[in-house]
Amino acid sequence: MTTTTTTLKINGQTATVSAEPETPLLWVLRGEMKLVGTKFGCGKALCGACTVHLDGEAVRSCVTPLEAVGAREVTTIEGLKGREADALRQAWTEIDVVQCGYCQSGQLMSACALLKATPKPSDDQVSDAMRGNICRCGTYPRIRAAIHLAAETAGR
Ligand code: FES
Ligand code: FES
Repeated sequence: MTTTTTTLKINGQTATVSAEPETPLLWVLRGEMKLVGTKFGCGKALCGACTVHLDGEAVRSCVTPLEAVGAREVTTIEGLKGREADALRQAWTEIDVVQCGYCQSGQLMSACALLKATPKPSDDQVSDAMRGNICRCGTYPRIRAAIHLAAETAGR
């Protein structure tokens, strides 16, 4: 394997990283960029803890190789902003969603991608969008309620 230099766009900034092209984006974010809000859980696209956005789409960074990112904008929880993100953070606080917190940045990234694509999701649409984000503390009912609350407040 050969180390190459790759230019990434992360949270509105340009970053140059030296790594093998097969390196998972998650390693670059946490190891090189010190953006540790994105968590490592399963490493196999099964838990959603590592969810980030590529051009606004929620992806699992543990199975996204550096070479697959290309010119797309990477957004992590540290750079998540905008009307939907603000509404979600507020709703998360209001409903007191978080328990241990480990899964929650991934949950917020998936929820934000959902609200950007579907401003007023049905319960089924919430289930579909959030299915891949596991919470070992079982905060699912509060996450669901917070997404619906954020959908209301973001639309005002
Ligand atoms: S760490 Fe990527 S989905 Fe679990
Ligand atoms: S809040 Fe603990 S894993 Fe979700």
